[in-house]
Amino acid sequence: MIDLLITNAALTDGRTGMSIAVQNGKITEVSEGPIAGVQASETVDAGGYLLSPHFVDPHFHMDATLSYGLPRINESGTLLEGIALWGELKPLLKAEAIIERALTYCDWAVAKGLLAIRSHVDTSDPSLLAVDALLEVKKQVAPYIDLQLVAFPQDGVLRSKGGVENLKRALDKGVDVVGGIPHFERTMSEGAASVKLLCEIAAERGLLTDMHCDESDDPLSRHIETLAFETQRLGLQGRVNGSHCTSMHSMDNYYVSKLIPLIAESQVSVIANPLINITLQGRHDTYPKRRGMTREPELMAAGVNVAFGHDCVMDPWYGMGSGDMLEVAHMGLHVAQMTSQKGIRACFDAVTVNAAKVMHLDNYGIAPGCDASFVLLQARDVVEAIRLRANRLKVWRKGSLIAETPATAVTIRLPKRPATTSFL
Ligand code: FE2
Repeated sequence: MIDLLITNAALTDGRTGMSIAVQNGKITEVSEGPIAGVQASETVDAGGYLLSPHFVDPHFHMDATLSYGLPRINESGTLLEGIALWGELKPLLKAEAIIERALTYCDWAVAKGLLAIRSHVDTSDPSLLAVDALLEVKKQVAPYIDLQLVAFPQDGVLRSKGGVENLKRALDKGVDVVGGIPHFERTMSEGAASVKLLCEIAAERGLLTDMHCDESDDPLSRHIETLAFETQRLGLQGRVNGSHCTSMHSMDNYYVSKLIPLIAESQVSVIANPLINITLQGRHDTYPKRRGMTREPELMAAGVNVAFGHDCVMDPWYGMGSGDMLEVAHMGLHVAQMTSQKGIRACFDAVTVNAAKVMHLDNYGIAPGCDASFVLLQARDVVEAIRLRANRLKVWRKGSLIAETPATAVTIRLPKRPATTSFL
């Protein structure tokens, strides 16, 4: 007798009519058609719908989430006003409020089948109030979300007083990943020095690295080059990520033809944040307005692991969002014009397997031995899932059902037409 048997499921690789057996929170068998002679405590007929590994957000700011309008709204819509606004909000923050907002966001995440999140946490404040708050959240949500924290010196690790010490103290407290923001340091050379310093800290401590890198429209902002170089120099291949990299959108094509192979060679992964990049970048332009998203298809074609992050939900930088990684993938494929079938599938990978690779998640996927942490979507394949930002009919975490959304069918009252439609 096994714990759970799911029948008649479609999988993300296109296989249909699949059965998935689960025992003790792990997938024990995945096979085409029925599994003979198996008794299960619970059987779920997937009805031909898509069973996907859970969504993964590899880039988020949970200390700021759901604070939209506090203490005021970002009028210009720029990254820099957002950073200034966050600076106004920080002295007013209370740990209890950060924790409560983060827990509410995690409820939304679970409802959307998002069960792993890498969140940056601002280490600029010497009290490390946000760090302590998110470490508490990490503990509380551990049964249902893998929350990985990045020590993020929002005000610049070299630019802000005590920046290096505060970041190291955050790591001492248990923050998982070394972050940075080289484009916010005072000069380009200070930015490069911060990348070198932070990669050395990561190498000494055996930690992963994830830097906000070149989040601007400046075609000459080239910290991603330094990050790739330091990754190779320190032997950190496969353990480093460059987030945003929006300046690549504006860079000279010849230079990029040299840069992308360097990124690929260093095995640095890249995270684009389509919803945020498209709204924050190009704000100094008249027309044409640059979109500012990094060069996903070209990076992917070169073999770079590219993932998409949500970055913000209702905070000083962005007033939209609900924790829906299908919305992120939907925007990503539009901005990058990845509208081929292959391109759409790659955008689905960017919020699932590629993002899991960035976070170094173990036991991820739908295969024997993987955790039974998956989502049943009201869609028949990944293309339909993105098109519809499909309902998460059921969300399981290690074999336990933790969220359900009823299937949608809209009643229509039209002559000579069916009584309902569900957009499928
Ligand atoms: Fe970010």
